[in-house]
Amino acid sequence: MYPGHALGITLAVANQKGGVGKTTTSVNLAASLAAAERRTLLIDCDPQGNATSGSGVDRRTIERSIYDVLLGHATLAEAAVPTALGNLKVVAATQDLVAAELELIDQPERAAILRKAIALVRAQYDFIVLDCPPSLGLLTVNALTAADRVVVPLQCEYFALEGLTHLMATIDRIRGALNPTLSVEGIVLTMFDGRNSLTHQVADEVRGHFHVFDTVIPRNVRLSEAPSHGKPALLYDAQSRGSLAYLSLARELVDRLERSSGQTAVEMVERGSTEAEAKSELEPAATPGEASTVDETAPQRASKRVPTEGPRRPAKAAKSKGQPKS
Ligand SMILES: Nc1ncnc2c1ncn2[C@@H]1O[C@H](COP(=O)(O)OP(=O)(O)O)[C@@H](O)[C@H]1O
Ligand SMILES: [Mg+2]
Repeated sequence: MYPGHALGITLAVANQKGGVGKTTTSVNLAASLAAAERRTLLIDCDPQGNATSGSGVDRRTIERSIYDVLLGHATLAEAAVPTALGNLKVVAATQDLVAAELELIDQPERAAILRKAIALVRAQYDFIVLDCPPSLGLLTVNALTAADRVVVPLQCEYFALEGLTHLMATIDRIRGALNPTLSVEGIVLTMFDGRNSLTHQVADEVRGHFHVFDTVIPRNVRLSEAPSHGKPALLYDAQSRGSLAYLSLARELVDRLERSSGQTAVEMVERGSTEAEAKSELEPAATPGEASTVDETAPQRASKRVPTEGPRRPAKAAKSKGQPKS
């Protein structure tokens, strides 16, 4: 369509609950997008580093990680390492990322660091996938401030909706204060067990409130085995139900997001070089003291300044569908 133009869509895979399948979804979605020949960058934003090891990056070989990027010691281009999949690169996370929240505390624009870093590499990737940690602290806030869309993995269990309400409130606040064009692309039902009637009850309830992807991810032992082999499931057992489900999710996502990509490419041409945009953004902010973490305990200090850049996010068509239904 526009050969050479990367879509540059940033997806945050987020849910403050642990163990719901964020990392499994990030790794396997990113691998599936790469297998579908989309240039993909997976950024591990969780100090546990499970997306890093799960995509085959040997922790002992990591020279630069997302920590160095957030602290301004490296660019994403410098930190990105290749994987066994030609179209997939990974920016690793290591334990020192735990310290980043504290080390960044005095930085006025600390919530927007990742966004600025991504602006410099956006033009080289069709999809940038952010694996978020299980909290709504500064790392998740950085991811949500950088993202165009949020993909929310959800396990169908009691109280799943309660957790979602909390996440959606956080997303609303980030949209209001830091990232006006952020939207929820959809909920992915993970570890789905169709034999369990509770699963169907919860799924129906979630569908009543949010866009839920048609593809559901079954509980599949291959998905839980693959990380210990340092492989996305499709390189471990390509025919497993888990691999096929993530390939299908990737297809569904690509269909939704690329449907309006004509507009995307035009917007990209109109707004000129993404790198120029990023550089101007990196200049000192007109309004200091902008961002704070959006957590429940910190006072809300974020200003309502709307970024001065042009449209950053591509597809508009699916926007209303991506929002919580009223
Ligand atoms: N669809 C699935 N089938 C079987 N096991 C899964 C599935 N999705 C995730 N798991 C396993 O569940 C655990 C938690 O998943 P993970 O992706 O790490 O969650 P999170 O990143 O949200 O904490 C991991 O051990 C993972 O291998
Ligand atoms: Mg995880």
